[in-house]
Amino acid sequence: MDAQIKDIRLEYTDQGTGTPIVLLHAFPLNRTMWAPQLDSFSASFRTIAVNLRGHGGSSLSQASYTLEDLATDVKDFLDHLTIQQAVFVGLSMGGYILMAFYRLYPERVKGLILADTRAQADTPEGRAGRFEMIRTAETQGASAIADIMIPRLLSAHTIKTNPELVGEVRAMIIHNPVDTIVADLRAMVERPDSVSLLATIARPTLILVGELDQGTPPADARLMAERIPKAHLTVLPDAAHLSNLEKPEVFNQSVLSFLESINSN
Ligand code: MLT
Repeated sequence: MDAQIKDIRLEYTDQGTGTPIVLLHAFPLNRTMWAPQLDSFSASFRTIAVNLRGHGGSSLSQASYTLEDLATDVKDFLDHLTIQQAVFVGLSMGGYILMAFYRLYPERVKGLILADTRAQADTPEGRAGRFEMIRTAETQGASAIADIMIPRLLSAHTIKTNPELVGEVRAMIIHNPVDTIVADLRAMVERPDSVSLLATIARPTLILVGELDQGTPPADARLMAERIPKAHLTVLPDAAHLSNLEKPEVFNQSVLSFLESINSN
């Protein structure tokens, strides 16, 4: 399905009925990363997975944007669907967008699931790495970005034993235009530190992290869990950064228990 949001066309999937759950994907992927979650969540909840602007088949209206722009796209998208409040799942960049969304539109948030993400801004080394990746994308294209990202997204064990999943992740990356990859990197490098936001998050929050996640490790998840007043942390064994794809059963079970606890309160 498509939603026209100002000058942007966003592709999305909307499955099931009940409390709306909005899934925000990671960099540099698209909504199909939520395939193992859609059927599971939509049995009990209205589950919506959106391609952020420029990703998958969603259009890219400008060469650059901020994470706040992406958060406002999501707010406009909720308006389009006439959804007043939702529970959000944001993984990695999706989590950065969810924090920006909470800063701007807290009344639209019923609960948060922050997966494999962090509140801190980039370190100087992290910023330098992003500029290097921008140069690589511009000179060598999306396939070179896939080569760099796959070992960061998936565990060594997954890469060795699950070529099908590796192929799916690669396909998501290379189907994104280079302009989108570059714009995401610029948006992430400019994102503000959200550590001071954490104490103001007044909604139930589940924090998930793969125990093998290198980019946003369990220490970053613990920091969020310590500062967000109503937070619960679950560390997922044997998963790296894309914990929802590497360990879908335990990821889904953790989210579903959390959603049930929100609904019963
Ligand atoms: C992601 O998975 O969205 C990225 O790894 C986030 C990042 O590069 O900070």
